[in-house]
Amino acid sequence: MKPAILKFLLSVILGLSAIIPLYAGNAVSGGSTPEAILPQVAKWIPANGGSLILDPSCSYRLQVKDAASDEAKAFQAYLEACPLALCPADRKPAVINIRIEDKLLKDDREGAYRMTIGRKDVSIRANGYAGAFYAVQSLLQLRASDEEGRIACGRIEDAPRYAHRGLMFDVVRHFRSKAFVLKQLDLMAQLKMNRLHLHLTDNEGWRIALDCAPEMTREGAFGDSWYFHHIMSGKPLRFAQEPADYVSGTVYDDGQTYGGYYSKDDLREIIAYAAARHIEIIPEIELPGHNMALLAVHPEFYCTGEHGVNNVFCIGQEEAFAFFEKVLDEVMALFPSRYMHIGGDEANKSNWKACPLCKERIGKEGLKDELELQSYCIRRIEKFINAHGKKLIGWEEILEGGLSENATVMSWRGTESGVESIRMHHDVIMTPSTCYYLDFAQDAPYKEPIAFNAYLPLEVVYGYEPEEDIIAACGADFDPAILKHLLGVQGNLWAECILEDSHYEYMLYPRAFAIAETGWSPKGSKDYPAFRQKALALARRLTRQGYRCFDLAAEAGHRPEAALPVTHLAVGAKASWRSGNKPAETPALLTDGWLGDYAIRRNPRWKDFGRQEITVDIDLGESKDLHYIGAEFVDYNVRRFCIPEDTEFSVSEDGVHFIPVAIPQVRLHPERQHYTIRTVGGPVNVRARYVRLHFNSGKRKVRGFISEVIIN
Ligand code: ACM
Ligand code: ZN
Repeated sequence: MKPAILKFLLSVILGLSAIIPLYAGNAVSGGSTPEAILPQVAKWIPANGGSLILDPSCSYRLQVKDAASDEAKAFQAYLEACPLALCPADRKPAVINIRIEDKLLKDDREGAYRMTIGRKDVSIRANGYAGAFYAVQSLLQLRASDEEGRIACGRIEDAPRYAHRGLMFDVVRHFRSKAFVLKQLDLMAQLKMNRLHLHLTDNEGWRIALDCAPEMTREGAFGDSWYFHHIMSGKPLRFAQEPADYVSGTVYDDGQTYGGYYSKDDLREIIAYAAARHIEIIPEIELPGHNMALLAVHPEFYCTGEHGVNNVFCIGQEEAFAFFEKVLDEVMALFPSRYMHIGGDEANKSNWKACPLCKERIGKEGLKDELELQSYCIRRIEKFINAHGKKLIGWEEILEGGLSENATVMSWRGTESGVESIRMHHDVIMTPSTCYYLDFAQDAPYKEPIAFNAYLPLEVVYGYEPEEDIIAACGADFDPAILKHLLGVQGNLWAECILEDSHYEYMLYPRAFAIAETGWSPKGSKDYPAFRQKALALARRLTRQGYRCFDLAAEAGHRPEAALPVTHLAVGAKASWRSGNKPAETPALLTDGWLGDYAIRRNPRWKDFGRQEITVDIDLGESKDLHYIGAEFVDYNVRRFCIPEDTEFSVSEDGVHFIPVAIPQVRLHPERQHYTIRTVGGPVNVRARYVRLHFNSGKRKVRGFISEVIIN
């Protein structure tokens, strides 16, 4: 190429690159753009500049075929009451034209919409009301993102990635008022989330008043104290009678009696409020486990014969099935959801093993064991649910002993069972505790309120990509068609440690924003820094609206000591440990030079030694002068993850004859709550090649997690 031509081309390129950012800058300065919307929209095509100011003088024109339908009326009512405060077009010039028609768009995903923002008007088109509703949510966020309510002109093409974008509220461990639930539904709608799973029964209470079982709320919805105190004291929960002045849907707490429940009218109100926001309420009635409240009111449903106190009902008893069938009948009639969640998790099978009636059932039904007995229970209940035209959802344990054909699985212990179910062509909702359990502390645990689990920061929640594990597990056999069984994602917030509503909100937000974005935005569109900026802005607005969000701007983040390797004499040294009669293991993490981060379980930096005594042997390779011996442990009393009660250190030159070295024992206050990482160790002054550390979890049989052994 001739230099003159090259020079000319270069000047054109440079000229264009000078114009393009300038033009883009104009578009941005002309009002907010969809980059501000959370969850991220699928596609944004900016116009050639210009903006529209959305202010209270704007009005709307709704073009629908079924103006007299309940859905049309509900949408109209929402528009008139929503913060856009629009008025119908006959009173003011119309600027927002909303057209809803079947098959208006090629995109047939429920919730898809197209929105064109012009200088004078907005045109919204959707196949159904959900799409139009989400377009309005996008418009509200756009308006809120600019102080003057200016929105840049352009076109949005948007649709959800997954059909299920959910949250689960545990209203049992600590009851949440009706007003609280309604408030969260408003925010879920902003986030384009469309499923709220209500965990209504569990060990600690029965939170739904039913005509067929009024005794369950009269005698099983109130306790003598907050559940949290029972965790800390280890004392069994005592149920109390419903207080005479109790008002349903509210939290009752007079300092002695604590609890509450929803009446059917409360739930009807919640269901209708949710439906107007395109949110389906999925009820959960737990069985066969997590049923201490039921068994407190109906002890006859315990297994017969010798049995311990546990939380399962007797699968051998027809009366117990009759109870659940009448309960499910009434619950399914109340909730329009296509689903009925029956729990199914963590059923302790020891009572079934010892019970003559359960054994009889196993024999009569030709079952192999208690796992198949559980499976018999789930299949039998599923048939009942299907006969009512509904689908069963259960926690992943419903896979044990064989999964019912039409059941939908919630994968919670990790993603493995979800992946396995999808490969077996069952529908799955991904809700892995490793990424989506919002009862984990969201920042350095020492600065956070007490949490039931260790550490799950926003970035980890945001980073979860639901299809990754499925594709990896299928390997070369991966067929994209299988992904139709991945219905979507859901965050779960268990409430063991969450007494106050504001604390519950604090645990939800902004992590629920991340789940909403994963559920809605297209695959491959994730951008954590951009998401974080949006989350900060949204949390600021929500705080002004009266929500309590975690202060993301003040996030401390991962444990700094765990960010870089440490040096000490034992790094790289051979380490082995023994526990009881088990063969010795050689966990490299004890001497790999890395300290544990705040996350504990399923974190390869921490070794779980259960409730055992363990002996760790370190071979330093040669005799050395030693001045310090110690090891890092988790101390998290709420979960009984504690430092060992007794510690003995000894040293040896030949690996056979050990002499003890004195180390001060750490004594902790038994009621301490906060999660900390502690080093158990101290100064020594010896020369040795071998170091032995013996830990005993003590009388309390607490569970131990150890990371690095440090020798200097
Ligand atoms: C569960 O967390 N047990 C479903
Ligand atoms: Zn039994």
